[in-house]
Amino acid sequence: MPVTDFEFKEKYRYKNGFGSYVETEAVPGALPVGYNSPQQPPHGLYAEKLSGTAFTAPRHENQQTWCYRVLPSCTHPPFEEDLEGPFNLTKPYSPASLRIIPNQLRWDPFDHDDQTDFVTGLRLIAGAGDPTLKQGIGMYIYAAGKSMNSHSAFYSADGDLLIVAQDGVLDIRTELGWLLVRPMEICVIPRGIKYQVHLPSGPVRGYALEIYQGHFTLPELGPIGSNCLANARDFQAPLACFSEDFGATAASGPNSYSITAKFNNGLFVTKQNHTPFDVVAWHGNYYPYKYDLGRFNTIGTISFDHPDPSIFTVLSAFSDHPGTAVADFVIFPPRWLVAEDTFRPPWYHRNTMSEFMGLIEGVYDAKKGGSGGFMPGGASLHNVMSGHGPDAESCEGARNAELKPMLVGKGSCAFMFESYLMVGVTEWGLKTCRKVQSAYNEHSWNGVKVHWKRPEGASTDGHLLK
Ligand SMILES: [Fe+2]
Repeated sequence: MPVTDFEFKEKYRYKNGFGSYVETEAVPGALPVGYNSPQQPPHGLYAEKLSGTAFTAPRHENQQTWCYRVLPSCTHPPFEEDLEGPFNLTKPYSPASLRIIPNQLRWDPFDHDDQTDFVTGLRLIAGAGDPTLKQGIGMYIYAAGKSMNSHSAFYSADGDLLIVAQDGVLDIRTELGWLLVRPMEICVIPRGIKYQVHLPSGPVRGYALEIYQGHFTLPELGPIGSNCLANARDFQAPLACFSEDFGATAASGPNSYSITAKFNNGLFVTKQNHTPFDVVAWHGNYYPYKYDLGRFNTIGTISFDHPDPSIFTVLSAFSDHPGTAVADFVIFPPRWLVAEDTFRPPWYHRNTMSEFMGLIEGVYDAKKGGSGGFMPGGASLHNVMSGHGPDAESCEGARNAELKPMLVGKGSCAFMFESYLMVGVTEWGLKTCRKVQSAYNEHSWNGVKVHWKRPEGASTDGHLLK
């Protein structure tokens, strides 16, 4: 079925389409028609432009949204640094604090944390580059047990955040409207957009990927044609929704709204006397969106050999070099394998790209699950040119399997953040979390057997001129 059967039912309406130009108003007539910045916008609102790209970015890349709100975003006192911020990095953030090592790493499922909300429960596990240069990525684990305070909001000036829900439901209020994000759904919150995360089903855990440059887009389809993989129509944007609480008469009292900014991987906080969720209407193409991974139209071989895993790319953040991504978000959903005379799991591999993997649910077909294996809520990192591939048991199974049509990954979905950057691991990721599996290499690949048999009469010196 090309849609996930969610336990937690949808509660919002959306606008469908990836990269569409959207206009939405919670109150009729709130959007000015034909122009953007009237002398006095309708209903006494302020016009505020949110630029997601440089003004002069080429038209096909240009992203902006006009917001019509009760008060503009600048109306707050100065920010103050929150030195107790949750990123567990040497403060202030420095790329030099990352440990860049070639070891293959795998993590047991990360702990839930009942004491944190989405922001205080974000943990930078690995990354590369520098937000101040708008170059690089951050990879996060989140675990939260509490909804964010209803008088708080968070935004990242560092980049766009792709959130992969793994356990528990995220009910996300953004400036531009609400998104419900359940396991098997993802969302992207673009740089600068404020949001507040509620937990309607209890504690949550999941993964996130931040890109410090550019924006996510759909991969090219090439000879595949004009459909398949993630179809544009299946991405969903929120509808305008607003609160009224502002000024000296604010029901909640003066300076009761706490705004936290993530800025160069540090946190800064200000208090203001009005809700940030006061956007009555907006129009533009810079907005948060969500996507049901169950709608991904998986493509694979119908003859032999399986294509590169890029065939499973949902979203890509392009670098300046065509075809080489700052980051790809790739999934391994349930799919049919029919390849003849083919080693069907992912092949053994060394990659100029780095590969961070997580598991939303089920068992990944190239790795054993269960205790000490690759488990939902756990992760792995295979850095630039570090060898990886099926573990010994999976390899032997695949070498000897009867090659009938087979549905793999039923009830399962693994994913990968793949990047052209060499990725470093934080102190939290290497030590503090205490989830690194020390015997990952040994358990996975020590048992890989030698099957080589030199044919009779063949020599080892065939390269010599005779
Ligand atoms: Fe790989």
